[in-house]
Amino acid sequence: MDSIKVNLGERSYPIYFGNESLKDFGKTYKSFFKSKKVIVVTNPTVGRLYSKVISDSLLKEGFEVNRIDVPDGEEYKTLTWASKLFDKLIAMKADRQTSLIALGGGVIGDLTGFVAATYLRGVPFVQVPTTLLAQVDSSVGGKTGVNHRKGKNLIGAFYQPKFVYIDVDTLKSLHKREMKAGLAEVIKYGVIRDPELFKYLEDNIDILTQNSKFKSQNSALLHIVKRSCAIKASVVEADEREAGNRAILNFGHTFGHAVEAVTKYKEYKHGEAVAIGMVYASELSHRAGVCNKSVVERVRNVIKKAGLPTEGPDFPRKRFLKAMEIDKKVVGGELRFVLVEGIGKVRIEKVDMSMLTH
Ligand SMILES: NC(=O)c1ccc[n+]([C@@H]2O[C@H](COP(=O)([O-])OP(=O)(O)OC[C@H]3O[C@@H](n4cnc5c(N)ncnc54)[C@H](O)[C@@H]3O)[C@@H](O)[C@H]2O)c1
Ligand SMILES: [Zn+2]
Repeated sequence: MDSIKVNLGERSYPIYFGNESLKDFGKTYKSFFKSKKVIVVTNPTVGRLYSKVISDSLLKEGFEVNRIDVPDGEEYKTLTWASKLFDKLIAMKADRQTSLIALGGGVIGDLTGFVAATYLRGVPFVQVPTTLLAQVDSSVGGKTGVNHRKGKNLIGAFYQPKFVYIDVDTLKSLHKREMKAGLAEVIKYGVIRDPELFKYLEDNIDILTQNSKFKSQNSALLHIVKRSCAIKASVVEADEREAGNRAILNFGHTFGHAVEAVTKYKEYKHGEAVAIGMVYASELSHRAGVCNKSVVERVRNVIKKAGLPTEGPDFPRKRFLKAMEIDKKVVGGELRFVLVEGIGKVRIEKVDMSMLTH
């Protein structure tokens, strides 16, 4: 299988990429783990589709496979559910050698990773991401955690998996809206680091958004997922714990989070809000004299072509400003933005509040 390595010293790990490759999961797994006991954490939606193929491949290699289901939804990414998982792990007599497999989207990945980081002070875990967002973003980089009623991802740990196993064929069953939302993060990687990926998206976005059985779609998916992971890996390698430049991954996210907050996380998927945020951040960059108008137009057009929104809801600007001020990227009272200089090049800069009221 094709793979890339995330270089983090003793926490380094590979990301495997394939197509219809879940049936071979057990073989790869066996090359990492000797202990027989394996626990697959998933939800009923994903479990129904993919847990059998994974379990069968593990059973074939002689593993003892258990499964834990968490209900489907962001509202279950909580300490309450982490605690229920601890109860189940204890009941299953899971020990330090027992490994967990997170099979699902970002919700399952974040929750399972957090439980793996904390159960018995840390047990090994593997990510098998099944949404585009999880394949290009949440499964790579080691951020794990749960939500608090006062805010998203407020409790968590940096904890790297032993490996990530991506099968792009799982994306065929994904809802189109989820697919497009994931594409927003792929577009983001193009803007922050990779003009070629951006151009590829401009030329091939139709192939990517239409669910088809064509080989061309599989190879296009493999291409963008692999490029995205390579970019995220290189950013994380340079700044694992977000002390500095990892923040460029937040391009479009300051305003995006504000859009999510003012609409109470109901109206927009995260990727849709990020799409709106990327257009906003590009316009802001242009107003600040950091990029020319054609950059803004290219960002807006590719987002539109992907079927993502380019404009936020019609609320008074003041409400967005308020939501942005509480965003975690406010440092010492100044609002810091990721600004785009040109496709593939960004910088982090503090922005005068007066620029934002424009
Ligand atoms: N750790 C990180 O670095 C990081 C980065 C970005 C986002 N996140 C987190 O990720 C979460 C969002 O992840 P998400 O967008 O994957 O949402 P999700 O996990 O809720 O998945 C979206 C929906 O798709 C379903 N699904 C998953 N795979 C499927 C498949 N192959 N076929 C059909 N349906 C499938 C899920 O059951 C769910 O209903 C958020 O909690 C966010 O905070 C974490
Ligand atoms: Zn995001």
